[in-house]
Amino acid sequence: MLGGSSRCCAGQQRTPGSDPPAMSSIAAVGESYQKFNPRAYLQNNYMPPRANFSSEDCVVPWKLRCLADAFATGDIHGRTLIDIGSGPTIYQLLSACDHFEEIIATDYLEVNREVLRRWVQDEPDSFDWSPYIKHVCRIEGKGEQWKEKEQKLRGKLRQILPIDVHQPEPLGSQFCQPADALVSTFCLEAVSPDRPSFERALHNVTTLLQPRGHFLLIGALEETFYLAGEAKLSVVPVSEPDVREALSKTGYHIHDFRTYLMPPGLKIGVDDVSGVFFVHAQKAAVA
Ligand SMILES: C[S@@+](CC[C@H](N)C(=O)[O-])C[C@H]1O[C@@H](n2cnc3c(N)ncnc32)[C@H](O)[C@@H]1O
Repeated sequence: MLGGSSRCCAGQQRTPGSDPPAMSSIAAVGESYQKFNPRAYLQNNYMPPRANFSSEDCVVPWKLRCLADAFATGDIHGRTLIDIGSGPTIYQLLSACDHFEEIIATDYLEVNREVLRRWVQDEPDSFDWSPYIKHVCRIEGKGEQWKEKEQKLRGKLRQILPIDVHQPEPLGSQFCQPADALVSTFCLEAVSPDRPSFERALHNVTTLLQPRGHFLLIGALEETFYLAGEAKLSVVPVSEPDVREALSKTGYHIHDFRTYLMPPGLKIGVDDVSGVFFVHAQKAAVA
């Protein structure tokens, strides 16, 4: 398993113009994740009421719609897509899987990588993503059978790698094949103690992307914490202008920015999120 305070702090580099790295707080975030409970996290965020497929106004269908729309443009495709901080979830890859030969999932925690491996292997106690897969087949409107999509994604998820977005080389020095696209959902702000760390993490993961590569980023707006079982994870609160500024500073062009306001009925005590952002951005031709 990745983790431990010394690894979190090692090798931090200064991004030009940023503050010095908040090493001890990054180490503290790494420690707090050791109690992350994937099952509780899935229950809190990926079951009703947040996963209600009868209304596109609900947060989960909104996220799936953003991703489906981005891939429907036809602009985002290639050989490899990397998902940054996958956690125990695969919903963020359902529309992507038609457009890439290989998808690489990543997470800091071995427990989450194990949950993903078990889903790929169709182990009996895996989380049931079938309502998600059926919904995405429906909104994509291509007549694809959900079992076909499920098999396709399992087949393309050939690597599930450890990652630390606070490292200048998040996948380690051995990884030297930049991806054609990145996806990241609710990771960067949820693992960064402050705005400078968030911006550095964005800079670090951008090194994994080809020039002109696409980045689909989803995250929490103005959130300070979320729960995953016994773990209470701190989140750096970010606003739409913060996210836009961080992306521009990192050399991205923003194609689409959407926001979702969390309705009172979905404020269920598992976090204090105000809303959700979705961005489709493209890395500059020359970094
Ligand atoms: C809020 S969860 C997001 C999970 C999933 N992507 C989703 O959409 O629900 C944040 C994830 O970031 C991972 N994480 C924690 N520290 C990290 C780090 N330093 N680098 C990369 N990922 C990290 C956690 O293990 C967790 O799975």
